[in-house]
Amino acid sequence: AGPCDIYSSGGTPCVAAHSTTRALYSAFTGSLYEVIRGADNATTNIAPLSAGGVADAAAQDSFCARTTCLISIIYDQSGRGNHLTQAPPGGFNGPLVNGYDYLAAADGAPVTLNGQKAYGVFMSPGTGYRNDATSGIATGDEAEGMYAVLDGTHYNGACCYDYGNAEVSAHDTGNGHMEAIYFGTSTSWGTGAGSGPWVMADMENGLFSGVTTGNDAADLSITWRFLTAIVKGEPGTWAIKAGNAASGALSTYYSGARPDVSGYNPMSKEGAIILGIGGDNSNGAQGTFYEGVMTSGYPSDATEASVQANIVAAKYATTSLVSGPAVSVGSAVSFRATTACCTTRYIAHTGATVNTQVVTASNTSAEQLSASWTVVAGLGNSACVSFEARDTPGSYIRHYAFALLVNAPDGTKQFTEDATFCPVAGINGEGSSIRAWGYPSHYFRHYDDIGYVASNGGPAAFDAPALFNNDTTWIVGAAFA
Ligand code: AHR
Ligand code: AHR
Repeated sequence: AGPCDIYSSGGTPCVAAHSTTRALYSAFTGSLYEVIRGADNATTNIAPLSAGGVADAAAQDSFCARTTCLISIIYDQSGRGNHLTQAPPGGFNGPLVNGYDYLAAADGAPVTLNGQKAYGVFMSPGTGYRNDATSGIATGDEAEGMYAVLDGTHYNGACCYDYGNAEVSAHDTGNGHMEAIYFGTSTSWGTGAGSGPWVMADMENGLFSGVTTGNDAADLSITWRFLTAIVKGEPGTWAIKAGNAASGALSTYYSGARPDVSGYNPMSKEGAIILGIGGDNSNGAQGTFYEGVMTSGYPSDATEASVQANIVAAKYATTSLVSGPAVSVGSAVSFRATTACCTTRYIAHTGATVNTQVVTASNTSAEQLSASWTVVAGLGNSACVSFEARDTPGSYIRHYAFALLVNAPDGTKQFTEDATFCPVAGINGEGSSIRAWGYPSHYFRHYDDIGYVASNGGPAAFDAPALFNNDTTWIVGAAFA
């Protein structure tokens, strides 16, 4: 059985079922998600390998070979048509044209399920999916349940990495107009024990960890790589649960009365569905989604325990974030451009500015050093790497507003993530492309001889599709010095 078969047996059927990794019903053979290709904007649907099975990641890999792909639709497997698509502007604009949010890179969150490769939805700040015209999702004070399987190590403190029920207008329409799973370290509203991240319930104008609007110490910080998060609500009552999606059972972090401030009892749910954003399209948060559902009715603890067992049996596991030629920690490297204009140019820096410069053995040693980099373990994620300037030990390549800079760490988690890059097989078929860990749709690119992390066809001039594949492909060789 799949999670939604279990919810059906419990009398609380799925009314939305979203996953890019697997079918959530044992009989499901339809499309899980759609990807759109950077080269020509063609789309294709990715289905499970077999009924009830894991997504056909190889079909995505072959469709997206030598270009980039984004996840454009996450289909609803429940049959109600509650698909998630690119979130539109609301109270806040997204970063794209007309205020739309970013779409997620299609290969940003590789995992395995029972040994088979699949891709989750790695969502950078600015990324969001939404459906404002749903069918069967709870409204008003109606009962519902929901779970999501998330990456418990990918989060931030911004508003709001959510999955669940929100406003149909994408605007804040008041307390009690949302009921969604939140995951992250926001301290703007509620908090739990320790320093987070926490699973909380976003009920609009508040992330709730328990009955109070502030700290509820029973809501524990999350430490698992794969997280099962649950929020459910019925008249007068709601609950938060969490567990390790790769083993063991769920724990209840809260179960009881609605928040002790006005507007949340009764609830005024509106029935839109959001992923990765707040109800008003607040879009500063980051996180990774693998699967999740929303139900009609308040699921029993026994049903949720069976669903957790089903998730554990799917055997989520990590897999490599890097590919292509080895870029080994401890080595000293140079990056040579592959665009026809520029094959004698290397990534270098002039002060904090990263650029490309023509460098040969006849340059001064200072010039050679400025194009030479030491590979160290990724400051923000040791599955990837960081690049320390050979001429400025203690300073690293990082991106800021998508420009590459050489900076010293400032002690923030943001810096470590901005300085972490995952080398992958070169997009144009040569060498390597150097992907920003926190923005997997963005790669090292030279544009007018300046260094950026660029996305294919994104909003900035340096995102231009022309020459994108070559500008983002580098020959990683030995350092000059
Ligand atoms: O409730 C927290 C957030 O507040 C909601 O997600 C958003 O709509 C509002 O800004
Ligand atoms: O470079 C993109 C983002 O810009 C970085 O992650 C952040 O530091 C800055 O806001």
